[in-house]
Amino acid sequence: MDKIALLKEKKQQALLGGGAKRIEAQHKKGKLSARERLQLLLDEGSFEEIGMLVTHRCRDFGMEKEVYQGDGVVTGYGTINGRTVYVFSQDFTVFGGSLSETHAEKIVKIMELAMQNGAPVIGLNDSGGARIQEGVVSLGGYADIFYRNVQASGVIPQISAILGPCAGGAVYSPAITDFIMMAENTSYMFVTGPNVVKTVTHETVTSEELGGALTHASKSGVTHFTYANEVECINNIKRLLSYMPQNCEEDAPRYAYEAGDERRPALNNVIPANPNQPYDIKEVIAELVDSESFMEVHKDFAENIVVGFARMGGRSIGIVANQPAFLAGVLDINSSRKSGRFVRFCDAFNIPLLVLVDVPGFLPGTDQEWNGIIINGAKLLYALSEATVPKITVITRKAYGGAYDVMNSKHIGADLNYAWPTAEIAVMGAKGAAEIIFKKEIAEATDPEAKLKEKENEYTEKFANPYGAAARGYIDEVIMPEETRGKLIRGFKMLENKVAKMPKRKHGNIPL
Ligand code: HXC
Repeated sequence: MDKIALLKEKKQQALLGGGAKRIEAQHKKGKLSARERLQLLLDEGSFEEIGMLVTHRCRDFGMEKEVYQGDGVVTGYGTINGRTVYVFSQDFTVFGGSLSETHAEKIVKIMELAMQNGAPVIGLNDSGGARIQEGVVSLGGYADIFYRNVQASGVIPQISAILGPCAGGAVYSPAITDFIMMAENTSYMFVTGPNVVKTVTHETVTSEELGGALTHASKSGVTHFTYANEVECINNIKRLLSYMPQNCEEDAPRYAYEAGDERRPALNNVIPANPNQPYDIKEVIAELVDSESFMEVHKDFAENIVVGFARMGGRSIGIVANQPAFLAGVLDINSSRKSGRFVRFCDAFNIPLLVLVDVPGFLPGTDQEWNGIIINGAKLLYALSEATVPKITVITRKAYGGAYDVMNSKHIGADLNYAWPTAEIAVMGAKGAAEIIFKKEIAEATDPEAKLKEKENEYTEKFANPYGAAARGYIDEVIMPEETRGKLIRGFKMLENKVAKMPKRKHGNIPL
């Protein structure tokens, strides 16, 4: 065969992966092929492939007869909305997308290029885990990837889409990346599958129940996003990237924004007259941020806190907000883990933070205490204290107890702290406070109930407002809700050149 014809044949083989029949089988399951996914993800004509002609080196179990160009992963670089990204897309039609020594080398190569050139890595995962025929070299390949994931963490954004089975080692690289997205019904993630589970724990569970998209979105919190199908999933990778810079030394892209009337009178009526009545903080967020710009992260997990990206006057921001509509917005283990990690991403990538506070405190109970609310609650406290990006707080209603400190108080480094007139800033709610500090007086009263009410009112009068905190400068200004958006736009602009010097150290020791 002449040399040109040989090249053409090899490239043709690479384009086909495991063959047309296997691609068809993918389609029947509602899955796209590795190359179709890249086509959807990247700007048209921008993909440059690297390592198309790599093949595996395994000579055991008859593997020398089964050689596929590219070895089950398509790797390279391209652009998304004109910005460079590095990509890998695993091909399930070749040995179930399993990871061989050479498959791993291809992924490592593009990760290193991404780090060297300061651009995000996007992994489209669809893999049966370690290539079983290869033994330890496959395990080594995984570790080589994990190591690069860690080196790249906080340097370049790393996003993982899970678009098929991801078993064994295939789940740990995504776990180290910044964001995971899953396609519903066609993808799942687990360390050990249903058969092993059955043998070891005698539980009967389906793949979907054990590690499907909805399980990881709501129960484990492993995935940050789920979408009905792969097309939606891939489109949302592009949206997510739009809030991020290319690397830790850059700022996120700024979107055109024309200043207008920034007053939002609807916000004046959001807080119910009864302080114990819930309202939806997402309605507040929608009014505050640029129209339709909020992209919620971890929507179905720990719903008592809301986190996500948005734009404020065209600038990217990260939002952390207590959700009074769910468990009264209380802080617990999962909400602290969820928001702590989100804060650290924003801080690593120069995305300013807005914290909206309406929190009655930490969730009491044996479940929380025995599972470590102390160590887990400390994660959010640590992350917000450590963050040096511009940080603005708005207390809309309750800021009670330790949760007042944790939720981006002035004391842990917030740059601007606002409160609405409805804010209540105290060690605890008035009833609980009165019961403790006036215990004796209430017990000795001829009408203890009336006494309790009287003391409760006294405490409310003193603390259920923002003025004590404002008098000490813990709150910079008490503002009308309708003014908030304008204040935030101007505040984030004022803080855009913030420089924060940190003590010299190797790294801190976040309570993991
Ligand atoms: C080699 C594999 C493979 C693997 C699948 N295949 N997984 N080949 N190594 N790990 C091959 C199959 O032999 C089959 O080849 C083709 O891929 C498609 O697989 P099917 O089983 O037919 O597909 P499906 O029914 O959709 O099931 C997919 C699957 C299942 C759930 C992923 O194949 C599976 O359970 N695979 C093994 C998962 C696993 O235990 N991996 C090792 C984990 S240990 P043919 O030629 O028949 O089409 C691990 C250690 C790393 O990863 C630890 C690092 C921390």
